[in-house]
Amino acid sequence: MSVTITVNGMPRTIDVDPDKPLLWALREDMKLPGTKFGCGAGLCGACTVMMDGEAIRSCQTPVGSIEGKAVTTIEHVATTAIGRRVSEAWVALDVPQCGYCQAGQIMSATALLTQIPAPTPEQIDSAMSGNICRCATYLRIRAAIAKAAA
Ligand code: FES
Repeated sequence: MSVTITVNGMPRTIDVDPDKPLLWALREDMKLPGTKFGCGAGLCGACTVMMDGEAIRSCQTPVGSIEGKAVTTIEHVATTAIGRRVSEAWVALDVPQCGYCQAGQIMSATALLTQIPAPTPEQIDSAMSGNICRCATYLRIRAAIAKAAA
């Protein structure tokens, strides 16, 4: 079956099983490997992308269920004003350690600031609570979000 979604501002039509998780459609069919596989069960946040401005778990999203929607991935996030501020704050505060979870962290942070331009610490904690970092960079992540929001 062919599925058409807008990815990073461009309409993309792929011939794919509509039940295939968006994560693997991005990585395998669209050659966008920046979105990472962590748990495959919706628990870690490594696979987070934005769909119409909201953070979603791409490992839990059948690609056929988002026909016609607009998806933004880590490869494109810095082309938006908010995503650029988030990315620059990540670099300025040297957030990543191993880096594996950081694409998902940045996508969740960008979705948060898209919806709430000046979030409270509690709103940041709530929005980011589903993104796990095994290196425990949480304090730098939260500082970078505050910096990007300023
Ligand atoms: Fe999707 Fe962990 S890989 S939430």
